Parts: sequence; structure tokens; C-alpha cells
Amino acid sequence: MTYQVTVEPTGDVVEVEDGQTLLDAALRQGVWLPFACGHGTCGTCKVQVLEGYADAGDASSFALMDSERDEGKLLACCCLPESDMVIEADVDVDPDFQGLPVEDYQGKVVLIEDLSPTIKHIRLELDRPMAFQAGQYINLQVPSIDSTRAFSIANPPSMAGIIDLHVRKVEGGAGTTWLHEELEVGQSLDVSGPYGQFFVRKSDPQGAIFIAGGSGLSSPESMIMDLLEEGDTRPIYLFQGARNKAELYHADHFYQLAEKHDNFHYIPALNAPLPEDAWEGFVGFVHEAVGQFFEQRCSGNKAYLCGPPPMIEAAISTLMQSRLFERDIHMEQFLTAA
Ligand code: FES
Repeated sequence: MTYQVTVEPTGDVVEVEDGQTLLDAALRQGVWLPFACGHGTCGTCKVQVLEGYADAGDASSFALMDSERDEGKLLACCCLPESDMVIEADVDVDPDFQGLPVEDYQGKVVLIEDLSPTIKHIRLELDRPMAFQAGQYINLQVPSIDSTRAFSIANPPSMAGIIDLHVRKVEGGAGTTWLHEELEVGQSLDVSGPYGQFFVRKSDPQGAIFIAGGSGLSSPESMIMDLLEEGDTRPIYLFQGARNKAELYHADHFYQLAEKHDNFHYIPALNAPLPEDAWEGFVGFVHEAVGQFFEQRCSGNKAYLCGPPPMIEAAISTLMQSRLFERDIHMEQFLTAA
């Protein structure tokens, strides 16, 4: 059984299979609906039902309150249409968003290597190329937990058919522990994507400040490689934070890019360098490096943040104190996969 859901005010029509969520069907058909967590807890995907009915699914009572249910609201990521429907959604799409459809792929593991004591590089070769925007992420089906984990794509879209992931082992995290300890080269994993609203607003010519911590380097790396490959001439800054040199992975790669491209600037920051690191660069947290570098004046740039929540909070506060508006600050909307 298939239901037709008309999305107002765009008039887009989504074909939803019996048992499929509205959001999943929309993303697979290239129809944009706002979402963040994808599993009923954040409320970003709330829509108003104008006609028809659906099962509300696993929407949490926090993300969709009883009074909202009574008003005919639903969460697109959870609801299962049970008739043809007309819904109203906030479809204010960023002009740089390409809305590439989500599809399912098979990814064969062709490389596993250590990037740092806690982060591994996993390279997948897909059964066919996936079109994505630099900065987006995939959902990876982890067999041991029979569930998916979201990981940002670290390579630029030009590497057709390749998906590079930077996977940090989260203490006690069943998914990332399996990926670190059990996954082997040659295995195949189910992948779906691309997802996400983290991409460079290329139509805006302002400079781009990337601030990355830990495995949050993945999407900035993809975005920076993509810009430089395209010959983009805007000023590009990468601030990479780590505790010590062993955790500061891919530094040589970025030093080389900075040598080659006049508009690319690489500023690594270590907050706890070891004596053997003989570190001569910035010592402190990555947001402090941003404040010092720009002397509290970041206007004329857009910022893209990716890393652990405390780093993101500190970086937002530094950027706003340095005269950057909230609308010019973009960040990942999901927390580190466990
Ligand atoms: Fe978070 Fe639907 S996307 S509740």
C-alpha cells in the first residue's frame, strides 16, 4: 500500500510505503523536510496535518506534547501515514542546499588505519557512487547492535564511490567499540545517505572559518578539500584542536595545503602538549586560538563548527563576542556516535 502525502506550501508530493516514515520517504525522493535527530526526540521535524491521518509512531512526549497532538501536529521522522495526506511544513530551504536524495548502498571496507590513539580511519568503497555535498553524513548499519550510527564523510565528493570516516572510540559505546575492535578489511556494511544540513554556503562569498575538535575534523576536511579543488579563492581558515601531538591527526596534510594555497590558513592548537611534543604552536583551547588570531574581529566570515558539544559552545561564544552573527555560524546537529 502506498499513500500520497502533499507537502504545503511547496505542493511536493511524497509517495510513502505502508510502514515507512514520512521523513524517510521524503528524503529518498529528494523532497526537503526539516529534521535533526531523526528519531523523535528533538522536535525539529514537526509538521501540521491539514488532511488525512497517520500513526504518530515513537514520538517522545517531550518532542511532541499532548496539546500539539490534539492540534494535529506530527513528527515527520516518526509518523506512519495511514491515508493520503496533506501536511504543512516549514520548508524554508537554504539556497545552497542541493537536496540530493537519500539512497541505500553497500560499502566494502578497503582500509582501516589509526589516525590517533582513539580515532580510526575507515574507508568504504561503495557499490556505486553517492552524490553528496561536502559536510554531509551517512548512517552506517552496525551489525553487532543492529542499529545505525551517523558519521560525517571526510573525503570530498570528487572521490566518487569512496566514503572516508573518522571514527572515535567512545568509552562504553557499543557501535564504535565494534567498529574499532571487530571490523575487518573486506567486510561489507549497509550505508544510507547523504544526510544533513552542514555544508558550505558557497553562494555567499565571505571567508570560511572552520573550527574542529577530535573526530569533528572529518566534515571540515571534506569541505576544505572541496573548496580548494574547485579553485575557490575566498580566505579559508582551519582551527584544529587536540590535547597533544598524537591526537592532532592529518596536520602534515594541512600544512602542505597551506603551502600550496595562499588563501588557506592552518592554525592547530594543543591544550595539553607533552614535553616530547616539543610544540611551538598555539597552546590552549581551539576557541582561544580563534579569538587570538582574529583579535576578536571575525566579521566578514562564516563559521563552520564540528566537534564535541563543549568545544562548540565555547566557539560560538568566542565568535559572537568577535562580532559574528548567529546566522553566520553553522554546526553539526548531532552528537558523537556511540
Ligand atoms: Fe528530531 Fe524528528 S528529527 S524529532
